[in-house]
Amino acid sequence: MSGTLQGKVAWVTGAGKGLGRAIAVALAEAGATVAVSSRTKTDLEDFVAEVGGGLAVPGSVAEPGFADQAVAAIVEQFGRLDVAVTAAGISPTFHRTEKSRDEDWTAVIDTNLTGTYYCARAAGRQMLQQGGGSIITVSSVHATAGMERIAAYAASKGGVEALSRVMAVEWADRGVRVNVLAPGYFHTDLSEGLVSSKWGERIVARTPQKRVAAPPELGAAAVYLASDAASYTTGSTLTVDGGWTAA
Ligand SMILES: NC(=O)c1ccc[n+]([C@@H]2O[C@H](COP(=O)([O-])OP(=O)(O)OC[C@H]3O[C@@H](n4cnc5c(N)ncnc54)[C@H](O)[C@@H]3O)[C@@H](O)[C@H]2O)c1
Repeated sequence: MSGTLQGKVAWVTGAGKGLGRAIAVALAEAGATVAVSSRTKTDLEDFVAEVGGGLAVPGSVAEPGFADQAVAAIVEQFGRLDVAVTAAGISPTFHRTEKSRDEDWTAVIDTNLTGTYYCARAAGRQMLQQGGGSIITVSSVHATAGMERIAAYAASKGGVEALSRVMAVEWADRGVRVNVLAPGYFHTDLSEGLVSSKWGERIVARTPQKRVAAPPELGAAAVYLASDAASYTTGSTLTVDGGWTAA
């Protein structure tokens, strides 16, 4: 897909590692100039050095004002923003609801849902001004499939999907597309604790392809949704889950 995104400026949050990083690399390989955000500045500087361009915009997506400042910095540097991928996310706890704590609920909702809202809204405002763009949010199979011990995470991802549909409807006639990527299980720092525990066997057994995916396997789906090839696709959720939600 080299050249598919030539001339486009993209912003990827959660791009320090894992799925966000793999998406940022895929967008850059497809020709986009990519600005990257996450909490750890050195991870972002590594990315810029690796792809030989782009911009590191460190900070927390959950911090009010960060997203607006990040978009302003990108537009100041590159003049526009065509693609935004909101991949920043956390899943720090694994307890049944009756044992869960207020502070864990708040942390997960703040980053996964409110952070997505701040970033998509900031990107959308810029894209509406320009007359077009593509926003890709990141949910999870657990936006729709229940599993024990992940109440806040699943609720945050269900919220991401609902929010994305609303933005898609609001902005469709002004050239801004909003779609969701819903991954199944991928090998990253976020999932590794679960995947390498006794739960890992259950996860693999539950997945029709009988394996956990590698982060680059999500990249092409992001490139597609970002590109003009997806010009009539908005408000959709693309699952990349080895068949999880089909089973
Ligand atoms: N790994 C999986 O199996 C899986 C499955 C479904 C969905 N997801 C989703 O994909 C996204 C990426 O997950 P991952 O597995 O790559 O995780 P990861 O832990 O490997 O990477 C997460 C990245 O997000 C950044 N981040 C976290 N909180 C942030 C904040 N407040 N502000 C800015 N950056 C922040 C981290 O610094 C890191 O760079 C998340 O939204 C996650 O919920 C992952």
